[in-house]
Amino acid sequence: MSNPAPDLEFIKQNFPEPDSTRAVLPLLKGQKALVTGASSGIGKAVAIALGRAGADVVVNYATAPDNAEAVAAEIRKSGVKALTIKADVSNEGEVQAMFGKMFSEWGTIDVLVNNAGLQKDAAFHEMTLAQWQRVIDVNLTGQFLCAREAIREFKRRGIVKNVSCAAGKIVCISSVHDIIPWAGHVNYAASKGGVALMMKSIAQEVAPLRIRANSVSPGAIRTPINTAAWSTREAYNSLLTLIPYRRIGEAEEIGRAVVWLASDDSDYVTGATLYVDGGMTLYPGFDTGG
Ligand code: BGC
Repeated sequence: MSNPAPDLEFIKQNFPEPDSTRAVLPLLKGQKALVTGASSGIGKAVAIALGRAGADVVVNYATAPDNAEAVAAEIRKSGVKALTIKADVSNEGEVQAMFGKMFSEWGTIDVLVNNAGLQKDAAFHEMTLAQWQRVIDVNLTGQFLCAREAIREFKRRGIVKNVSCAAGKIVCISSVHDIIPWAGHVNYAASKGGVALMMKSIAQEVAPLRIRANSVSPGAIRTPINTAAWSTREAYNSLLTLIPYRRIGEAEEIGRAVVWLASDDSDYVTGATLYVDGGMTLYPGFDTGG
């Protein structure tokens, strides 16, 4: 049986030649990004990295306007725009007002980085409902509320070819604790486990619209959230037993991973979780055999 002759018109329309000029342009030139919880830690580094990659960046914060302004000033040094907006991501009205402000200032959104998160640690039998609820509200419901607003806008606007080949990108900042159980932090691990399947289910639902959703799941990264784990020699040495690569990570390393997932260089990646963890998820306890 002979193969049918290739339909050259069909092939030309569907499989265009790669644009060889794109690689030399800043990866996110002309894109508009919003990073939640961007006044410190991983969110701050991500917001600055997106700016360096050419994006205009909304720096969302909940409590520290001065820190957020400093991050915005740093971003502007890259020659892009930055805007600080206060909102508690767990509050529907505040989230909607934040997106409304971004759209009235800049028209639209291309990249959402769902980063805002917190820990309220307690032994399980002592954990209060308030500790449980606050962590779920910020870490999980906050990501839902922001993703929903972003996707509504991505759907309304669709693809703008000279901006990105996708109609929008969401990067959820999760944690190795979306797969590693964490005694003493049940609320946190439950929130991140929720983020993992929320992200994948969103990705599945909106992929036909050319909207992508992925997670970056950091391991131990040197930020204010885990100072106790790296600020003394004893604590740091004990932390290193959990990290095959034998060092803590820096927030800038998460920034670079997020830039890639937000850019067209990862256009065929959706529903993925990228662990940036020095091997923490490799069962380091088994490194000398089972
Ligand atoms: C937590 C950190 C912790 C790291 C590795 C992160 O998600 O927020 O406190 O150091 O996971 O356990």
